[in-house]
Amino acid sequence: MTKRVVSGIQPTGNLHLGNYLGAIRNWVRLQDEVAQGGGECFFFLADLHAITVYNEPAALRANVRSMAAALIASGVDPDKSVLFNQAAVSAHAELAWLLNCTARIGWLNRMTQFKEKSGKDREGASIGLFAYPVLQAADVLIYKATHVPVGDDQKQHLELARDIATKFNTDFETDLFVLPEPMIPPAAARIMSLRDGGSKMSKSDPSDMSRINLTDDPDAITAKLRKARTDPEPLPDDPAELAARPEARNLVGIYAALADLPVADVLARFAGQGFGAFKPALAEIVVETLRPISARLSELETDPAELDRLLAAGAAKARIAAEPVVAGAYDALGLNRETR
Ligand code: TYM
Repeated sequence: MTKRVVSGIQPTGNLHLGNYLGAIRNWVRLQDEVAQGGGECFFFLADLHAITVYNEPAALRANVRSMAAALIASGVDPDKSVLFNQAAVSAHAELAWLLNCTARIGWLNRMTQFKEKSGKDREGASIGLFAYPVLQAADVLIYKATHVPVGDDQKQHLELARDIATKFNTDFETDLFVLPEPMIPPAAARIMSLRDGGSKMSKSDPSDMSRINLTDDPDAITAKLRKARTDPEPLPDDPAELAARPEARNLVGIYAALADLPVADVLARFAGQGFGAFKPALAEIVVETLRPISARLSELETDPAELDRLLAAGAAKARIAAEPVVAGAYDALGLNRETR
């Protein structure tokens, strides 16, 4: 089967190591493989998702550009993949409305991310935050995505997209929507905060010490890792012994992902050593991985007009791919768009 890969990232804050290892690195790895098989990749800045909570408009505008630059610096190639911002392709918002009428409130009530993001103030959350996974379903269904590379936290949203697609296809007796498969990396699917091994590394964590940003310089990376929370025990030689040590497991997992090695091999190298020895080694591999990315990022950021041009070219291609599917959805529902 020809692969159609689709994924998105919110243009809020900086790209961090969790985004990179959980998602972006796999986008980059997929883009050549998919092209060779005759397929296509669509990657976008989810700016319509970003406005589900208040985002200062000027900051959002700037963040779309800088996140596009960060993706390109990480290896997403606008000549190989279709790269664009979601707001530039109005079909996303259009299909989301149609799918709002298929999705059930009960399904959305089960979304753990809404519970986390709305916190104690559920009544005060925007309708958009609640309906957020329906827009995400539209994002992938509109391109007939077969594969969606994401971190572990997006798995539930993808399952919902499959439920929405199935119900729509059944209710309206069509085979319009393709059921997308999540592609979750076997390792590094959930990178945790450096300050708390129980919560994921996130753009919205108020403490910058909790994450490594792709823009952090070597001193900042080294300092953040030196101060990362750990325990006093030396590293074990058996990966099973990390199970009850979330901070240690996270740091070893980051090393393993960056070195492209199984956790057991990393432990074989560091077993018996404490974090005083492990952290500098980890800092070195993080710094060396990010060095070329941040150099390229600074270069790209000097030419915002070129970034805008690349995004506009991507959006033009995305509109063409999306149009027949939105038209098919209107048609299946018995809606007449021609009179607009
Ligand atoms: P976002 O912007 O929060 O994150 C972008 C990608 O990074 C992954 N990720 C992580 N992976 C491992 N460890 C972490 N600590 C970590 N933090 C984030 C996420 O799983 C994601 O793959 N709703 C999505 C954006 C979106 C989308 C879509 C994704 C909108 N429409 C359609 C796929 C398909 C989000 O907020 O991701």
